[in-house]
Amino acid sequence: MFNFNLHAPTKVLFGKDQIAGIAAEIPANARVLITYGGGSIKRNGVLEAVRKALGDRVVFEFGGIETNPDYATLMQAVELGLAEKVDFVLSVGGGSVADGTKFIVAAMHYDGDAWDILAKRGTGAQKIKSAVPFGVVLTLPATGSEMNAGAVISRRETGDKLDFHSPHCFPRFAVLDPVTTFTLPARQTTNGVVDAFVHTTEQYLTYPVNAKVQDRMAEGILQTLIEDGPKVLADGEDYDARANIMWAATMALNGFIGAGVPQDWATHMIGHEITAMHGLDHAQTLAIVLPSLLNARRDQKREKLLQYAERVWNIREGSEDARITAAIDATRAFFERMGAPTRLSAYGIDGSSIGDIVAKLGEHGMTALGEHGDISLEVSRKVLQAAV
Ligand code: NZQ
Ligand code: ZN
Repeated sequence: MFNFNLHAPTKVLFGKDQIAGIAAEIPANARVLITYGGGSIKRNGVLEAVRKALGDRVVFEFGGIETNPDYATLMQAVELGLAEKVDFVLSVGGGSVADGTKFIVAAMHYDGDAWDILAKRGTGAQKIKSAVPFGVVLTLPATGSEMNAGAVISRRETGDKLDFHSPHCFPRFAVLDPVTTFTLPARQTTNGVVDAFVHTTEQYLTYPVNAKVQDRMAEGILQTLIEDGPKVLADGEDYDARANIMWAATMALNGFIGAGVPQDWATHMIGHEITAMHGLDHAQTLAIVLPSLLNARRDQKREKLLQYAERVWNIREGSEDARITAAIDATRAFFERMGAPTRLSAYGIDGSSIGDIVAKLGEHGMTALGEHGDISLEVSRKVLQAAV
């Protein structure tokens, strides 16, 4: 196992009716900005519960944060927050609202052009010295953003989708009430399960470092998603299944399974470029890229793929190659069963844009991806070509 520092300061309030608990987490005299998306929280009663919990605090609202939150929209929220001297921000919604909120709270304190936080990879985010405190009420289990310090921000004007991380961007608290997820449309339920699955494989399907706890936790998360993913699709109001999916998604990207182990993230980086170019949902891009990438990296990932085949899919028969192929096929079949097609062509993309996608990867410095840093632009091109 590698050395690691683990910092997971977000307080989790998990379960039914936990939204009421935010009253004790936000200072009574705070000037609060509620950030939200396209309005689902108004239709399903979550906003009402949040406003009730906030009592007579001074509250402002900023809605309209789109999926794959856009820089231009977020800068409007920064202006509002500064003008109204907001000192606490509450993100109510899915990962896009949580990510957008991280950018807003960092940009409100940022000295310089806030776009640098994303454009100057690493150094821009290092310049974040503080941020407005914020909490998250999560309504879509998927990204893990509710308990981590990363965010992915898009800029449609320039066709960019970039991530940043800052220790100042951990939520103070995260409310995870599975009941808030009952109203998710099937497509978003699917996206959440696929995203959490691929977060887990990005940190698990690399090479062995004898990290037993992390491996077993990752396998437990994957098996939970495989078992309960179809249940939440079949019955959106199955509380127990929704609860298990919600906690699985948080645990997949809150730092624990990734501590002390190698990490890949190539599927995500390639996927982000597909979203930026074609507008596919984040998880759709992962369903397309992961099976193809695992196949292309079967030699480099051999030992972990065999462990994955045996422990997650119970595949024990046949040659090593046959078992690896069966595990990749099972992964693809699971995504398809969950309603996420795994080929570019299924989304109407014929492959003619692969050159442009690879060029964007190059422009963003994504030229040595993966746990070995050996996924060159040529490898990414082959992964995409095999995914048409
Ligand atoms: O906008 P509203 O009206 O709220 O509707 C949303 C949105 O249309 C809807 N929704 C959310 N909760 C709902 C609901 N509809 C009904 N009932 C509910 N309870 O779902 C739609 C999608 O929401 P969004 O927040 O965009 O989805 P998700 O949570 O999947 O977030 C995707 C974004 O997160 C980034 C992705 O790249 C993408 O931009 N990621 C962030 C990560 C992180 N911070 O660690 C890691 C991930 O790998 C990912 O890249
Ligand atoms: Zn993801």
